[in-house]
Formats: sequence, C-alpha cells, structure tokens
Amino acid sequence: MSALFSPARLREVEFPNRIVVSPMSQYSAEGGSATDWHLMHLGQLAVSGAGLLIVEATNVEPEGRITQRCLGLYSDENEAALARTVGFCRTHSDIPLGVQLAHAGRKGSAKLPWQGRAEPLSAAEGAWETLSCSGIPRADGWPVPRRMDDEDLVRVRDAHVAAVERARRIGFDLIEFNAAHGYLIHEFLSPLTNQREDAYGGSLEARLRYPLEVFQAMRAAWPEEKPLGVRLSATDYAEGGWNIEDTVAFCRELKSLGCDYITVSSGGLLLEQRVPIGEGHQVEMARTVREAVDIPVMAIGMIFRPHHAEEIVAGGDADFVALARGILHDPHWPWHAAAALGADVTFPPQYIRAYKSGWLRELRGHSPEGE
Ligand SMILES: Cc1cc2nc3c(=O)[nH]c(=O)nc-3n(C[C@H](O)[C@H](O)[C@H](O)COP(=O)(O)O)c2cc1C
Repeated sequence: MSALFSPARLREVEFPNRIVVSPMSQYSAEGGSATDWHLMHLGQLAVSGAGLLIVEATNVEPEGRITQRCLGLYSDENEAALARTVGFCRTHSDIPLGVQLAHAGRKGSAKLPWQGRAEPLSAAEGAWETLSCSGIPRADGWPVPRRMDDEDLVRVRDAHVAAVERARRIGFDLIEFNAAHGYLIHEFLSPLTNQREDAYGGSLEARLRYPLEVFQAMRAAWPEEKPLGVRLSATDYAEGGWNIEDTVAFCRELKSLGCDYITVSSGGLLLEQRVPIGEGHQVEMARTVREAVDIPVMAIGMIFRPHHAEEIVAGGDADFVALARGILHDPHWPWHAAAALGADVTFPPQYIRAYKSGWLRELRGHSPEGE
C-alpha cells in the first residue's frame, strides 16, 4: 500500500493521492487574463493523475505582477478568462483545483524570464512603480520600490480579499497564499527587506503582523469548507535574514488563524543567495515545520524519483509532495510513479489503451524504480 497514493483530506476537500502539481508561472497571460496556452498547459496537467493541481502565481493587482504577462485576478475580464480555463479542466477531469494568490512586491516590473532573467523593465518597455514594505531595491539596477503607506496596506490587503472572492465564484477548491520567494509578503517577513519603524517592522511579532492580517482577511472571505494554505521560504540563506525558527513561529500563528497547510520552499529574496541545492534539499525544513507546528505540509524542490516521493510521505517528512519541473518534464509522472510503486491512478478513458497496456507492467519490471 503506497503512502504517496493514499487519499488525503483538507477541510471538506478530498485528494485522491498526495501528488501536487506545484504552481508554475507561464508568463502567457494578456492583461492578466488566462489565454489558450493555459487551456493546454493546465488541461494536460489536469489529466496527469496528480491529486491536486495549483494554478500559477495569480496576482491580486496589476502592480503586483512580476511581468506584463503574469496571470491576475483583479478584473472581471481576468475572472471570466480563468473561469473558462477552470471550466475546461473540469470538463475533462475531476482533479481538485487550487490557485496561488500573490503580489510580486519589489520583484515586479521585470522582463519575461526568457527575455532576461532577473532584469527589470526599462521605462521604454513599460516599467511601473513597484511596492514594498521598505524602499529597498532588489539589487543594483532595480528600481527603488515605493514604501507602502497606510492606504497601500489596506488596498493590497483588500485586493487579496477581492481575489479570494473571485476565486470562490470561479469555483476553485483551494487557495495557496504566496508568502515565499522574496515577493511582497516575504519582504514584510524578512528583517533584510523590512526596515519599517511602525507597527509592521522591527520585532518578529511586528514583521509577522501584515502577512497575518492579510491571511486572516483572506480566510474570512473563503468558504469554511475549503482549504487555505501558505507557501513560504523557510530561510533566506543569509546572515541576519529570515530563518527556520522564524518560520516555525509564523506557522504557529498561521495555524491558530485557520491555515490548513504549509508549502515549505526557501530563498528568493536575494540574488546573491547560496542555496545548497540537491535532491529534496528542502524536505528537512518541511519535516521541521510539520513536527514543530503539527500542521500538514507539502514538500517541494528537486523531487523527481517516485521512491523518493514515497519515502517522504511514508517516513512522515511531509503530507504531500509537490512537483514543478519533474511534472513539466513528464506530465504523466503520476502514471510512472504508480507503476513503480504498485499503485493505481486515475486516467482519462480516452487513454486507457496506454495506461492499462502491458508495457506499463514491463516498465514496472524493468525500471530502476520497479520492484
Ligand atoms: C516554470 C516554473 C514556474 C514557476 N512558477 C512558480 C509560481 O508561480 N509560484 C511559486 O510559488 N513557485 C513557482 N515556481 C517554483 C516551483 O513551484 C517549485 O517550488 C520549484 O521549481 C522547485 O520544485 P521542482 O524542483 O519540482 O521544480 C516555478 C517553477 C518553475 C519551474
């Protein structure tokens, strides 16, 4: 009996297995609205056999986008376009669907990754004024963000709530609040980017205040029966930065406010970070959060082998395993994992001749992952 393929539940939402398609920005929206690319990208992942599909970072206001092509949920047009995408996925699959809500903060106004990784837009290219908790640019050459004043704090919080309401109308099953990777909410958490001297900066308690206020407002607007989780970076990998102890303190507060799970990622705040990258390099931090806070966690990062994913869940490191690059590379990764682990997985009836055919048994027998 595979632990990875055992069902799970958060609030009233049931997941057929513990494999999660991690949110992956596609930089393919128009004016924040999903396009046909999203039908194809999310459509194929909806029939992957995973237990949950989370739509990419979806920004709560135009200034909160990373790039001009990021997905948004701040207008009626955005809502209608994403509703079309979700409707398309639901026509062909009953996979639970989540959406990640985000604000890019000082990492906004950037070029598309394939036009210049980690480079800001020039004025001629349509740069906009970015926001952050303090007026500290991301790096040399990046614009100085506007320090958020009281009005900005309220507007951005309310923009998160409005996006939650749009997600509810669309019919998403789950929301992931993005507090990771150096974006706006992470900027409030880390002492390296938060140098405010008001109630939202200084002590750990003060730095948690705004992220918790936004979370609480989102939770109040989201149906009681549906899960709301948080993705965070467990460390800045920097002297004097946000760390795993701060993460545990933050997660305890989130749990008390009704947070249903934590996705434990890391880094993203500083360009000069040194990440000790390797297979499952963030799993240990997921385990720390799970044990210290007693909250469901999703492990993410450099998880590619089915038996590794199985060990993570069976061994109690995490409740779910999320995949980004692994499932982009192999959109039927759950089929291969099921074959390797002797489990079963849902598949579209149109694909039965591939799923149930003898070659899968062959694969199980001959793969290095097989018995
Ligand atoms: C194409 C791509 C887009 C991504 N977009 C997002 C995103 O929108 N939100 C997010 O939190 N992480 C995003 N990530 C990070 C992944 O969700 C994941 O945390 C990271 O890639 C590590 O997992 P992996 O080793 O399975 O790829 C993205 C990663 C990739 C490869």
